Amino acid sequence: MRLFIALNLNKKERQRVHRAARPLREEELPVRWVEEANLHLTLKFLGEVRPEQVPAVEEAMVRVGEGTAPFSMALGGFGAFPTIRRPRVLWMGVDASPALRCLKQDLEWGLTDCGFEAETRAFHPHMTLGRADPSDGAGVFRGLDQLVSTLDFSAEIPVRTVDLMRSVLSRDGARYARLSSAKLTGC
Ligand code: 2AM
Repeated sequence: MRLFIALNLNKKERQRVHRAARPLREEELPVRWVEEANLHLTLKFLGEVRPEQVPAVEEAMVRVGEGTAPFSMALGGFGAFPTIRRPRVLWMGVDASPALRCLKQDLEWGLTDCGFEAETRAFHPHMTLGRADPSDGAGVFRGLDQLVSTLDFSAEIPVRTVDLMRSVLSRDGARYARLSSAKLTGC
């Protein structure tokens, strides 16, 4: 099964984020927008995981949770990977605070013990709002950089758990289900 570890928002917080991105959706861009219920921050993409590996992943998450104090993460700013002119992913930014970086790093280390490769790419915490086809010409996204710079949104979101998520891909897009959660109980 296809798994990832994520930080999820509660319903109200997801609504706020979704609403903040409305001006982007109203532009009628060739973008597949993420449904409100699916908004999340991926901490670690695990890919295909065998069912017998899941307990070890969950134990690693619990250990990391025990060593991590609850914190809050700051959301704000909009952008795109790789560039706003030819985007593949449109996102809302998340501040790469020391607490968030530590959590990410602890998960990476904890998971290498269970055989998962550590991520070598830089960590750019974000919430994906929509996905575009990189083959679409840059012209379709003209003006997006200006629109993005006019959007003003910021929020502080409490982080108290990390969630193990399952992604089921279908023709209508991905559906996500929370398999388990590990509480942050460190001090
Ligand atoms: P994204 O939001 O940056 O696209 C579920 O698919 C989650 O896992 C998504 O949030 C996605 O991140 C992330 N994801 C999917 N495929 C990935 C990959 N090959 N490498 C890293 N993250 C991936």
